[in-house]
Amino acid sequence: MEVTEFKVELVRTVDESYPIVVGRGLDAKVVELASRGDLAERRIAVITDTTVVELAGKSIARALADAGRRVDVLAFPAGEPNKVRATKEALEDQLIALGCGRDTLIVAVGGGVVTDLAGFVAATFTRGVPYISVSTTLLGAADAAVGGKTAVDTPAATNLIGAFHQPSAVVIDVDRWLTLSDAQIRDGMGETVKHACLGDVQYFDALEDAFVTRGMSPAEFVRDDGLAELVARRNCEIKRDFVVSDVHEGNRRMALNLGHTIGRALETAMGYTMSHGECVAVGLNLQAKWGVQFGYLTQGEADRIERLLRAIGLPTALPESVTVEAIMDAMTHDKKGKSGAIRFVFERGIGDMMVFDDGALARPVPSEEIADFLRSAI
Ligand SMILES: NC(=O)c1ccc[n+]([C@@H]2O[C@H](COP(=O)([O-])OP(=O)(O)OC[C@H]3O[C@@H](n4cnc5c(N)ncnc54)[C@H](O)[C@@H]3O)[C@@H](O)[C@H]2O)c1
Ligand SMILES: [Zn+2]
Repeated sequence: MEVTEFKVELVRTVDESYPIVVGRGLDAKVVELASRGDLAERRIAVITDTTVVELAGKSIARALADAGRRVDVLAFPAGEPNKVRATKEALEDQLIALGCGRDTLIVAVGGGVVTDLAGFVAATFTRGVPYISVSTTLLGAADAAVGGKTAVDTPAATNLIGAFHQPSAVVIDVDRWLTLSDAQIRDGMGETVKHACLGDVQYFDALEDAFVTRGMSPAEFVRDDGLAELVARRNCEIKRDFVVSDVHEGNRRMALNLGHTIGRALETAMGYTMSHGECVAVGLNLQAKWGVQFGYLTQGEADRIERLLRAIGLPTALPESVTVEAIMDAMTHDKKGKSGAIRFVFERGIGDMMVFDDGALARPVPSEEIADFLRSAI
């Protein structure tokens, strides 16, 4: 028999647009979003964690039930160690036991752990059901809410298993930030300063005015309508601007790595004893200082970045307990390119990104050069 080959023509153009709603007291808004289009006919599974279920999950479920919707609440144990395949499987078994099928709408209520995990459940349950993300932490709102990345961790690496699955809507209820601790708020501010540095100098100015000039505390910030709304909205808008043209990773999305190449390596080298936001803050400050050496921003601009991070209460220097070798090990572990170089993005001044050869946002830096810089910074 002759070998035959023929093609399944499948060029997909899909509209995965979705609204992001920012405000206070948004339970009724969740109900309204869940009744748009084909979502209205679906039974609802609220997926949340054991902490957020009391803070927000139950009240959203009640509002949905009061509107006549059939609602079940599934709460898994809070915390990053539970963002794993076993939890996903347990949630799926619960959904099956409840009789949920393709007619289900998942409403994820929680921080980044919940939206990543519940989003991943939604991505694969009966090959995909819609979900609404109700983000309850500043870190979740600043980063996890936009982009459509869902995932679980494995012992080998975080976020190793997952899917791109865009939400039907994202809700950022700033009132939820009122129950966050100062440390949890600061954790989300690392990503916030990153967004200002890479995309919007006026946003940076507003943060500087609040935290540096007026000395605002984290608790005052979440009560300040103007600033809280600005932070919730600008973080999403800036992240959106860098992911819409580049949904499945690529050049523009690289900008979001600002401060993260060093930051993530520091997080690993410290055995996750420092928060992600703290590590990103150190990474942002060091990369700005490094950028001054390359001539990408002025000393005055780098000083402003350091002052803002400090005013927020974030660290800006490598801790004494960490070695350059440990950071380099973590950095080269999975990032090493063919040439033994690691790719870095840099800001151009404040609010813009450096563009290198062929329009690339990242430039390779040889490992030795990175190690030399880190040694000079320690
Ligand atoms: N998908 C993405 O693009 C993306 C981007 C950034 C981060 N993430 C993920 O996000 C996760 C970190 O996010 P996180 O810090 O929000 O994690 P989280 O969901 O674990 O929340 C942190 C803690 O705060 C509690 N909490 C949540 N809301 C609260 C509230 N309103 N008041 C008081 N406590 C509250 C939670 O129960 C939890 O104990 C990581 O797993 C990370 O990988 C994903
Ligand atoms: Zn980050």
